[in-house]
Amino acid sequence: MSHDMKPTGRPVISSTGLFTPPETITNEELVESFNAYVERFNAANADGIAAGTIEPLQPSSVEFIEKASGIKARHVMAKGPILDPEIMAPRWPERSNEELSVLAEIGVKAARDALERAGRDVADVDAVLCAASNMERPYPAMAVEIQQELGIDGFGFDMNVACSSATFGIQTAADYIRAGNARSVLVVSPEITSGHLNWRDRDSHFIFGDVATAVLVEDAALAPAEHWEILGTRLKTVFSNNIRNNFGFLNRASPEGEGRADKLFVQEGRKVFKEVVPMVAELIVTEAERLGLEPQALRRLWLHQANAGMNRLIAQRVLGHEADADESPTVLDTYANTSSAGSIIAFHKHSEDLAEGDTGLICSFGAGYSVGAVFVRKVA
Ligand code: COA
Repeated sequence: MSHDMKPTGRPVISSTGLFTPPETITNEELVESFNAYVERFNAANADGIAAGTIEPLQPSSVEFIEKASGIKARHVMAKGPILDPEIMAPRWPERSNEELSVLAEIGVKAARDALERAGRDVADVDAVLCAASNMERPYPAMAVEIQQELGIDGFGFDMNVACSSATFGIQTAADYIRAGNARSVLVVSPEITSGHLNWRDRDSHFIFGDVATAVLVEDAALAPAEHWEILGTRLKTVFSNNIRNNFGFLNRASPEGEGRADKLFVQEGRKVFKEVVPMVAELIVTEAERLGLEPQALRRLWLHQANAGMNRLIAQRVLGHEADADESPTVLDTYANTSSAGSIIAFHKHSEDLAEGDTGLICSFGAGYSVGAVFVRKVA
């Protein structure tokens, strides 16, 4: 129907969608399981520890986790095996090629939510980008499977820029609209982070949670009356080893064996904190000014959800004062870090109350390093 409309080449966000896994793990449950694993390890290695050849493992703590990160709980796709001290990883029955993949399944749920909110018929959607930190397989692309399941006639591909995948996806979609190559693009971010988190690593076992989000980026001519104009987007990457995952088919390790740790998420958390905060704040301020926007006048910042302290510092540098929860909302307490989906969840849950003409910023950052900024204005 609306494809007969004359495209404007102006990209907008028509809607967002969210799928939240029903199961949650509280910090208390997580620490109890982790500490049971520590006790078992130390008991099993008591001789080596006494002889000084094996380092004893240290327990984790609920207080540390909440103070260091702001995280209180996380949603997961498979609670039982993650909390089982003998497994400590998500597990579910392997699916045949005829069944929908797990990542596609949750991506489709978030995408359907976004389509419904926009009142969008799939016949009007041209493309699907699956933008996430870890794909379930190299190919066929997850995006093409999601496209097929939704019944979209068009094209799709996967893209991975770790925690910045969704904002990089939004700019890519916006560029298709600007160039006239598509009029309606779904950016889907299914994040099963529990699969690449090392649940046995005390420094990071509390960080991540599972979720899926979707963002419908469209030409203004096609969009529903209420939408978010995309005022500008800016991306930046600078190579760093401080957040890294070496998993890959050229670089295999036995599942539980030696050399496994670096095939999962590893980071130098302190360095990340110190190096990424100034990089993000500078990119936001520079880009806001280039767009003719007062950074201090941004009504709301929907920042990447990795660490409450990082967001406090970034918001302070951008807004010029300590931001309250209304100016810089958090979903870390219930969702933890959901990689690229975090800033989209914050936007999805905390944007309806804004008034026509209000401006805001969706911003993600993470491994690469990478930063993606999407400036928006509410049109109602
Ligand atoms: N329970 C209890 N104590 C713990 C612990 C745990 N689970 N993990 C670490 N500690 C201890 C450390 O051993 C250390 O003790 P010490 O001072 O006696 O050596 C102390 O707590 C501080 O550890 P540190 O790793 O320096 O903590 P931190 O304050 O830097 O917080 C992070 C850790 C990961 C929460 C924080 O660095 C962070 O969020 N960084 C940014 C991460 C990020 O954005 N990554 C992007 C991912 S997409």
